[in-house]
Amino acid sequence: MVFVVAFYAGFLNIGGFDHLFQIPLGSKLSVSENNFWVSPNSYFAFGFFNISDQPNQYSVGIRFNSKLIPVDKQDVVWVVGADLTVGDSSYFQIKNDGDMVLVDSLKGVTVWTSKTSLLSVASAAVQDNGNFVLFTEKKNVVWQSFDLPSDTLLPGQNFSVLHTLRAASRNSMSSYYSLFMNASGQLQLRWDSHVTFWTSRSPSSSNVTALLMSNGALQIRDQRWKPIWSVFGEDHNDSIRFRYLRLDVDGNMRLYSWSEASRSWRTVWQAVENQCNVFATCGQHGICVFTESASPVCKCPFRLTNESIPRCLIPTPQLCKSGSNMLNYQHMFLYGMYPPNDDLVSGISSQECESLCLNDRLCTAATFTNDGTARCLLKKTPYLSGYADPSLSSVSFVKKCSDPMAVNPSIVTSSRDTKHKGPFELCVPCLLGAVSGTSVLFIMVQMVVLFLIFRRRRISLRRKASLGYAGANTNGLIVLSFSEIKDVTGNLEHQIGPTMFKGMLPNNQPVAVKDMKSTIEERKYRVAVSKLGSIYHKNLIKLEGYCCELNHRFLIYEYAENGSIQKYIEDPKLCKKLTWGKRVEICLSVARAICYLHTGCREFVSHGNLKCENVVLDEKFEAKVTEFGLHRVITETTSSSASSAERDVEDYGKMVLTIVSGSKGDEDLSHWVYKEWMEGNAPSVVDRRINGGVDLGELDRVLRIAFWCLQVDERMRPSVREVVKVLEGTLSVDPPPPPFASQRQPEEEESSDAGSEPDSRRF
Ligand SMILES: *[C@@H]1O[C@H](CO)[C@@H](O)[C@H](O)[C@H]1NC(C)=O
Ligand SMILES: *[C@@H]1O[C@H](CO)[C@@H](O)[C@H](O)[C@H]1NC(C)=O
Ligand SMILES: *[C@@H]1O[C@H](CO)[C@@H](O)[C@H](O)[C@H]1NC(C)=O
Ligand SMILES: *[C@@H]1O[C@H](CO)[C@@H](O)[C@H](O)[C@H]1NC(C)=O
Ligand SMILES: *[C@@H]1O[C@H](CO)[C@@H](O)[C@H](O)[C@H]1NC(C)=O
Repeated sequence: MVFVVAFYAGFLNIGGFDHLFQIPLGSKLSVSENNFWVSPNSYFAFGFFNISDQPNQYSVGIRFNSKLIPVDKQDVVWVVGADLTVGDSSYFQIKNDGDMVLVDSLKGVTVWTSKTSLLSVASAAVQDNGNFVLFTEKKNVVWQSFDLPSDTLLPGQNFSVLHTLRAASRNSMSSYYSLFMNASGQLQLRWDSHVTFWTSRSPSSSNVTALLMSNGALQIRDQRWKPIWSVFGEDHNDSIRFRYLRLDVDGNMRLYSWSEASRSWRTVWQAVENQCNVFATCGQHGICVFTESASPVCKCPFRLTNESIPRCLIPTPQLCKSGSNMLNYQHMFLYGMYPPNDDLVSGISSQECESLCLNDRLCTAATFTNDGTARCLLKKTPYLSGYADPSLSSVSFVKKCSDPMAVNPSIVTSSRDTKHKGPFELCVPCLLGAVSGTSVLFIMVQMVVLFLIFRRRRISLRRKASLGYAGANTNGLIVLSFSEIKDVTGNLEHQIGPTMFKGMLPNNQPVAVKDMKSTIEERKYRVAVSKLGSIYHKNLIKLEGYCCELNHRFLIYEYAENGSIQKYIEDPKLCKKLTWGKRVEICLSVARAICYLHTGCREFVSHGNLKCENVVLDEKFEAKVTEFGLHRVITETTSSSASSAERDVEDYGKMVLTIVSGSKGDEDLSHWVYKEWMEGNAPSVVDRRINGGVDLGELDRVLRIAFWCLQVDERMRPSVREVVKVLEGTLSVDPPPPPFASQRQPEEEESSDAGSEPDSRRF
């Protein structure tokens, strides 16, 4: 407290000398004190703010601070750790060794560090342009927030191949939208790193930089600083005091200007003209319908009931007793999201396209377009998005099962966004509150019993009709009794893992059923399971349901046809299927999945037991991670997020070495692999049974990042997001120190840490 007063006294000193605005080492910001650091011109401030929709969640970073802008419009331009949020007892500090940390003191964890302790930092400052910098004694900039943009670029901020903008997250899903500059210098808006839906179409050139100019132009400049591509805001050349470029939550990139007349931020340019052309703009919520007047709306034409449905999924193709038929939607274009690629058949008619899909068991929908050449795009996934517009010449076909009520009710009526409980749970207490009197209560109890009997009868009727269970809760998870578990798994007959059984739901959907062998209290179990059940990612095995009856606890998972990669690595024949390219792809898929668990969910989820046995291959041979977050379901405690995140990272490093070498991932393995790599013999560690070649550049990158993951000093391990970036090739990685460097001197952790070279790493 004393310090803060003294510090602000420094600010209030007469004169605009820069050194007065220098933030000394040791300075601290906290949620409780609500203090902040301002730029000399007072246009920008660095401090804590609440931007999430939850009351006690704070982020720390830079926002506009000018008195010309009303407080509620002082937009945030940079957030520490992109979408990190912390509780209300958190603080941000520039430590005396020059490292900056964000600490959630309630949980007692450091959630972010700048890793700048070895850069001879002497002071910091918020600059007039909104850049937060760390200086050495000689005023050299050794770190700047401009190099780690979150979703916004300010005038003067360079954006090059090394940088990424990622849209802020919406709901519990981390945003899939990002802006990159690819190796040939083009800006690209991407969805989930596979799908590019906008590109700058600038001349191909390396070593270029994109830059927002203070006059409202977005330019790409070459090495000699000559503009080679520009777009202009509609108020270009007007004298506007504040501008910024942001990749918005909806996936579109917009240039904003502060309008003093209307006292609001005005959009003066946007990358994608028609919002419906932003890939997956309606996500799982339907089809984007372009309306001339207002902003586009998301509609769900496949809706099969009259309830409001937050997700708009096409039912998974099932074996329909009465066959299927195709629904026909004019002027509509559909695309698959997971996976995003369609099967393309050219040169056929729209009727042929329709019947091709109808007769393909896996096909869920098709879009036929004709812009000179006829194209039929067949989709084999229930995760579809798309857009409709009267001017579109496409026609789409959606498969519908002809059986009455053929849709699994858990898919159609599930709602993971609505927070309220199911109608049954809701009504008992409200009625109890309204009416008192034992006779009424008695009648009600009778009704409940009748209802339960009725419901059970209905369930068994449905099962006979092979329609799937009605016992879906609000998460879209199916809930089975123990006897139903026995039915589904044929009396736990077909064992596919230590506590894992194969089963078949009545709708013929294969599932993997895990016996949790736990007796955790029912309420806690349900809470933990429903959290896991709300996690969706294409590289995570989906939790389909659970059983919680007496002392039986089971989890029901999506079934992955090809089993675990451990099986593939151990088997001398199967391992040939894991080519080098496939192995790298598996490593990246797993990293993406873990990154999603760590940062993409509303709450941090650690995997807790990452290993080759828990990475499985689906029917398309794509890797999916399973059995995540189970410590919540087995035990009553949740461990602190930082240490479990680091443990996942370490497990990941071990797993990568196992995948690369094809041998068991113990400590000796990492020592040996590291030694071979150091001596320039990296190719000798690669599994000899691999068919085809090995990309040596890729091998080097994969090994380097694995060694970083295996650092004994947890603080030196990268985050999984950084791992993903390295594997995607958007981040370079420096040579790592030996993985067990500090293990030899466990007493001198600090000094051995300083003796190695962690900060030569360029993350
Ligand atoms: C942006 O790049 C130019 C050219 O490389 C450089 O002169 C300038 O200092 C950079 N700006 C920032 C804020 O890093
Ligand atoms: C960069 O993107 C452009 C446009 O999508 C593409 O033509 C080019 O091949 C890409 N360059 C690289 C190196 O991927
Ligand atoms: C880009 O910059 C690197 C390092 O500054 C240089 O080696 C390379 O030749 C440059 N590329 C081009 C095409 O100018
Ligand atoms: C902006 O002003 C500059 C110099 O005043 C001029 O050369 C340029 O053409 C103007 N740009 C536009 C888009 O009006
Ligand atoms: C659906 O519900 C709305 C009101 O919620 C009602 O007006 C409409 O008639 C219903 N449609 C059908 C087909 O039942």
